[in-house]
Amino acid sequence: MARPSPKVGGRKGPAGKRKGGGKGRRRAGKGMAAAAPALESWGPPVERHAVRAEGFCDMEQLARAVRRCTACGLSDRRIRAVPGEGSGCSGIVLVGEAPGAKEDRQGRPFVGLAGKLLGKLLSERAKLSREEVFITNVVKCRPPKNRPPTGTEVEACRPYLQRQLELLGPRLVCPMGNSAVRALLDPKASITGLHGRPVESGGRRLMPLFHPAAVIYNRKLMGAMEKDFKMLGRLAREGKGGGGEEGADGCSGSGGGGEEE
Ligand code: URA
Ligand code: SF4
Repeated sequence: MARPSPKVGGRKGPAGKRKGGGKGRRRAGKGMAAAAPALESWGPPVERHAVRAEGFCDMEQLARAVRRCTACGLSDRRIRAVPGEGSGCSGIVLVGEAPGAKEDRQGRPFVGLAGKLLGKLLSERAKLSREEVFITNVVKCRPPKNRPPTGTEVEACRPYLQRQLELLGPRLVCPMGNSAVRALLDPKASITGLHGRPVESGGRRLMPLFHPAAVIYNRKLMGAMEKDFKMLGRLAREGKGGGGEEGADGCSGSGGGGEEE
């Protein structure tokens, strides 16, 4: 469900006309910029219930709940929630931070620039296709201005990720970047010292990776990222099949994507 843009007002020229003329004009009433109401106050108050994800039997059921979820404030401004997509066939799950603008519009993870790089690294270095891995995020709704999710938001959303990992039973979970490594491994962890080496934590095997967006901003990380994805490919081929709840071979359906209910 698309909500009105939270941006109101805009710069005006000397004669009080909006710069750039009438085309592309934003809907803004007189005086709105000074006292824009909180989005929640536009309609009935949003009810916040803690997420209960342990009862979901499959990935589709979980994805439907994510798309309706209002458990934290990130639901107020999202266009679409992004449950995640892919399959458990390779036994690999990749976990990013949060959806960005393009993901928010499409309801699919990693469809922007960072996603393009992720797909390239997967196919060229790890020899894996996007469809063979499951890709999701620590939080399923876009934070305003792409800020990192707060601890409260991460905790509110955690039961979904937890249940996704239970259902898929991956052999290897790859937290990408600081938010993911902090959510899955250690709240004080830093990706710089952890990337590229498998570690055991909470009964899971994790392989931390740099976030693809970090590599776009700092090209010096590319060499290490390519090496890490080569290693990921090797680990993926070490033994096939996951041990999740979704079928004996661990191969489960797309579990999300951007489709409507
Ligand atoms: N960055 C993320 O962490 N997740 C996405 O889905 C897209 C960009
Ligand atoms: Fe629900 Fe997670 Fe979205 Fe918050 S971020 S509203 S907990 S799905």
